[in-house]
Amino acid sequence: MKVQGKPWRTIWPEPDGESVGIIDQTRLPHEFATLTLRTLEEAAHAIRSMQVRGAPLIGAMAAYGMWLALRRDPSDVALARAHATLLATRPTAINLRWALDRCHAHLAPLPPAGRAAAAFALAASICDEDAAINRGIGAAGLPLLRALAAMKKTGEPVNLLTHCNAGWLATVDWGTATAPIYLAHDDGLELHVWVDETRPRNQGASLTAWEMLNHGVPHTVIVDNAGGHLMQHGQVDLVIVGTDRVTARGDVCNKIGTYLKALAARDNGVPFYVATPSPSIDFMVRDGLREIPIEERAAAEVTHLTGCREDGSLATIRVTPAGSPAANPAFDVTPARLVTGLITERGVCPATPAGLQKLFSDRSS
Ligand code: MRU
Repeated sequence: MKVQGKPWRTIWPEPDGESVGIIDQTRLPHEFATLTLRTLEEAAHAIRSMQVRGAPLIGAMAAYGMWLALRRDPSDVALARAHATLLATRPTAINLRWALDRCHAHLAPLPPAGRAAAAFALAASICDEDAAINRGIGAAGLPLLRALAAMKKTGEPVNLLTHCNAGWLATVDWGTATAPIYLAHDDGLELHVWVDETRPRNQGASLTAWEMLNHGVPHTVIVDNAGGHLMQHGQVDLVIVGTDRVTARGDVCNKIGTYLKALAARDNGVPFYVATPSPSIDFMVRDGLREIPIEERAAAEVTHLTGCREDGSLATIRVTPAGSPAANPAFDVTPARLVTGLITERGVCPATPAGLQKLFSDRSS
């Protein structure tokens, strides 16, 4: 996607041949800053601290993290250590394990001298695949938006609601939930996106809103609790969210608060779609509620907020009484029965074992 007219991806190999560039997402929307990562530890820190975040981008970062590790030491011990270090950064998005296992399976049989070059090539190819997958999700989701637009009066927008950031910042390019939105907008469809702020870290208010503004998509930021009210008043035509893991039976794990949006959508007859790249499907797991580890993040993300003062400087302030404890489960699970459909790069399917099996028979058996 473009930032001020210049094409960007969220992650790239630097021309020095020994480091990786990323957009530092902890500084957005107030500052567009990049970082250069040179070591395994810096790559792991970038994931843990959410300088890079979003399931597909975490996987891409991990692949480049393997390269950074093997550049310095291509031994079996270093390979195993890099895999374990990166895997321990965040537990919920399956894309992390998917990318790391793929790297390990590809690199372990090679002689150590060839591992760094092979790791680099694989990381680059995982990034290119991610961009292509997301473009495919866009193409698969576009007809849904066209069908809604066809039911509108001239000049009346299709109203979408999205949660968290499943945009291009959460991937290498395009985004998952945003890919159909960008394609539809570029195609001239009248759209308006309700952007959930997504407490505690506000990925909606800070990242999705920044993306929409940047691409010229009409949007409005709302507090997380507003979605149900808007749906009751006919102001949401379709909900589209991303996912950190979809199980073999179609349960959807995504940013905390997604489940409440799905409940409200069901109660109001609003279609609830999940943009699902195939690396986010975990065919080893069926029951999302019991089998997916939910990341518990620092209480400080709940008790404190960071924002921008009028003079442009950043400030972090406490919003809770100093003595009140806080809990911070970062993801929840939306049962498959509440999901209208999964938008994958191979097409749209019901969130059922049969639906997934039909599109991904090569992966699920
Ligand atoms: O904690 P985050 O910001 O990594 O969570 C991101 C989300 O929940 C996204 O919706 C999900 O990873 C899909 S990104 C295409």
